[in-house]
Amino acid sequence: MSILIETLKGKKTKTPIWLMRQAGRHLPEYIKIRQKYKDLMEMFLDPEVITEISLQPVKRYGLDACIVFSDILMIPYASGCDVGFKEGMGPQVKFNEKFKFESHKLDPVTKGIENIKTISKIPLIGFVGGPWTTLSYCLFDKEERSQMNKDLIYKNEKRIDNYIDDLTDIISNYAMQQVNAGIDAFQIFESAAGDLDDYLFEKWVVNPTLKIVKEIKSKSDIPIIGFPRNASTSGYRNYSFINQLDCICLDYNFNLQQLDLLNPNISYQGNLHPKLLLNGGDEMDKELEEILLAFRDYPHIFNLGHGVLPETPIKNVERLVQKVRNN
Ligand code: CP3
Repeated sequence: MSILIETLKGKKTKTPIWLMRQAGRHLPEYIKIRQKYKDLMEMFLDPEVITEISLQPVKRYGLDACIVFSDILMIPYASGCDVGFKEGMGPQVKFNEKFKFESHKLDPVTKGIENIKTISKIPLIGFVGGPWTTLSYCLFDKEERSQMNKDLIYKNEKRIDNYIDDLTDIISNYAMQQVNAGIDAFQIFESAAGDLDDYLFEKWVVNPTLKIVKEIKSKSDIPIIGFPRNASTSGYRNYSFINQLDCICLDYNFNLQQLDLLNPNISYQGNLHPKLLLNGGDEMDKELEEILLAFRDYPHIFNLGHGVLPETPIKNVERLVQKVRNN
């Protein structure tokens, strides 16, 4: 069994490493393909492109996992929303109130997963956005998201309640679509979790995730990683006790001195600051040593506390991987 899967199952092994957003704009080989396409969506819907780009960082760095080259906005796309990625604007979603998920629209992703599994033995991570994060991209524009406030959220509470329920079912279905295609582990990116107060975090993050995990685990034993980015300490604590969750991914704001507040019976992933990887040097070395030390006695997957930044130099990633390997 791979060290990634062993760690996800709670065993202490040599520290595996992969990086959120490892496939993408920091890689020249990605940019070369990207330049041939006007529309990012075309790339996400081409199984050959999915296969090639997913494997790029694995080939270059010898990482311990591959993550499917896809996006959390594939669910809105397959549910009748217009999804666009205009240069420098962040993603834009034209919301479709009906929000009816058609799984066949994501057959190219399934095909991409199958392709990767025929070519490579590397553990493959599938993913979705959590219900709240997915919805926040559907209902709010970039400016609203950047200054998400209580009024805006509570004004929409009833409407959001309904869609959270729909998304909880859709996400469980799409997860199983990926499981059946051959993924080895599954991550739920709840990147916008930090927008919510404790009450809404429980209602829109913890409770739906509990249902999603229960549903997936009733059909498969795939390991599940949850990433409630920027949740409060009590939020992280409650999330970590979600029944049958295998691993919690910690963002870079999580204070590792509070590790012992979390569920001791799961594994951990994270949490180097992406800016430290961007800048490299002694500061990166120092922090990565501290992370390895803090997790010395825990099953731990080395990762960032959020995605790789586009300007990150290749040599810093190489250095990071080497340091974790030599640990
Ligand atoms: O390597 C990997 O981790 C796999 C691929 C991946 C992408 N998106 C590809 C992508 C993953 C895991 C995601 C998840 C994702 N997408 C999240 C959750 C994680 C996070 O970062 O918080 C979110 C919030 C999104 C939504 C999204 N998609 C954003 C904010 C952007 C950037 C838009 C912009 O204009 O800067 C995207 C586009 C996107 N998704 C790119 C990639 C490689 C950039 C592609 C490009 O412009 O060439």
